[in-house]
Amino acid sequence: MNKHRMLWIVVSIFMIAIIARCSAPDGQQGEHTGSTEENKNTFPDFGAMIPINQFIKQYPGQKVFKLSQDYPKTLAGEDKIPDFFKIPFDDKSRWKEWLMAARDYCFDGMIEANFVAQDNKKHNWYHMPWLHYGPLASEGFNGLAKEAPINPYQLSPQQKHPGQVYALGFYNDFAGHILYKMWDTANDPDPFVTQGPKGGFPEGTVIFKLLYTDLDSTDVPYLKDSYERNAYITPTFADSVNRVVKKVHLIQMDIMVRDKRAEKYGTGWIFGNFCYNGNLNNGKTMRERVKNLVPVGIQFGNDPQYKTNWINPYPVIKTMINDTLKETFINASADLPPQHLGWGGRLDGPVDLNTASCMSCHQTAEFPQVAALVPDEAFIGDTLANGAMGHLTQTNDPAWIKYYQNFRCGTAYNPKQALSNDFSLQTSLALGYYWDWKNKNIGGYYANQFSGVEHVVRRGGVPFKRARILKKAGPRQKANVLPENQGNF
Ligand code: HEC
Repeated sequence: MNKHRMLWIVVSIFMIAIIARCSAPDGQQGEHTGSTEENKNTFPDFGAMIPINQFIKQYPGQKVFKLSQDYPKTLAGEDKIPDFFKIPFDDKSRWKEWLMAARDYCFDGMIEANFVAQDNKKHNWYHMPWLHYGPLASEGFNGLAKEAPINPYQLSPQQKHPGQVYALGFYNDFAGHILYKMWDTANDPDPFVTQGPKGGFPEGTVIFKLLYTDLDSTDVPYLKDSYERNAYITPTFADSVNRVVKKVHLIQMDIMVRDKRAEKYGTGWIFGNFCYNGNLNNGKTMRERVKNLVPVGIQFGNDPQYKTNWINPYPVIKTMINDTLKETFINASADLPPQHLGWGGRLDGPVDLNTASCMSCHQTAEFPQVAALVPDEAFIGDTLANGAMGHLTQTNDPAWIKYYQNFRCGTAYNPKQALSNDFSLQTSLALGYYWDWKNKNIGGYYANQFSGVEHVVRRGGVPFKRARILKKAGPRQKANVLPENQGNF
């Protein structure tokens, strides 16, 4: 037994990963190359659900969520790259055409399949394993994982109550192959798979995510005629123990696309975002209502040169479009409900923090997640009478400047301490959960897990109350409060 334990300690996770990669041809590494059938049930489908007898009695004929995990062993050919990769996304007069074509690709076969990936007859889509784990566990009705808190007034001037976000991500064939390479040896996921220059998501990768909130049209009028689903969620974001069945409403869709054409901006990724607007419903059936998602914008870089310091505070009356940005384009259409966007008008979604941005947050994705998803500076500033952040005061700090630099795909944010997860935060979350579970089961740690303090992967902000405490405490003490406790109010 002792010898066995010693062996585990000596053969560290990274060594296993390296050996696996070197000894087998691409896509075939690891012990369990097994049959497709074998792989299908490797990972749990969800982590939180009502008891089975209650489910059968109260939801007769309904199915629970099934993780799409039959990840493709081979990389799809270039001929499978979706057609919208030909549209010039960085042409200010055509980006919306690009984004709508990307949306059409994500919806193709999905509306008929009611977004059940396995039922899509046109394209294969997959889900990230391991999000069933821990207090943010995915739930059994629709596989929605708990994500972030929503502050009062974040979504609309009428929004008096706080809310929460639950979501499910979909990975296309190209991205799914990376999930295969990383997770094929289920008990030894290979963290090198997303590390450049050799690893990383290939050209053709499309990942999208549908985000739902438990707030409804009484707080957020543009959620009228909502696209809704059942979900087994915590009654409030702060509660991490209890769960109830509640209706959740589609509020936002996120998309990230790995496109070589974006490499000239120093990144290689394009982020896109949509916001739901029920005012456009016009008699659509429930399944068709996903089409009420209106483009917010796209982002393919952080515009590092643009340092003017402003945010659009909650509640938002009007979308403030910053036309000087070269790597973010925002939709000026009246169909789009007013958006707060991110720092300086960079792209950010309705449920995201107005001091961050899609790319700056996602480029921190690494394993172990040493980088904070949002630097402390995002919470230090002058607050308005309603408690919302009005103006940041520490935007000349090196950590803030780094957050708005451009990072090339496959590059770790902290290269001395971590491996890149190539902008995929679900990857870093899944690897983190896996290792948490493994440490508990093995009853020990590996030396390289001590390369840096891990940050909790949370996309949400701190509540107003805490932001004020931070401001008072000043920069020296703030590290004690953040970000480990982020969102736990
Ligand atoms: C402050 C951090 C933060 C911001 C800002 C943010 N995200 Fe994310 N995002 C996350 C985290 C954490 C996850 C993983 C957990 C989850 O799914 O929520 C994630 C997951 C995703 C995924 C699923 C794929 C993956 O592997 O990560 C997509 C797609 C995505 N985000 C796109 C976007 C887009 C588009 C925006 C801007 C409109 C955005 N994100 C803004 C933190 C952020």
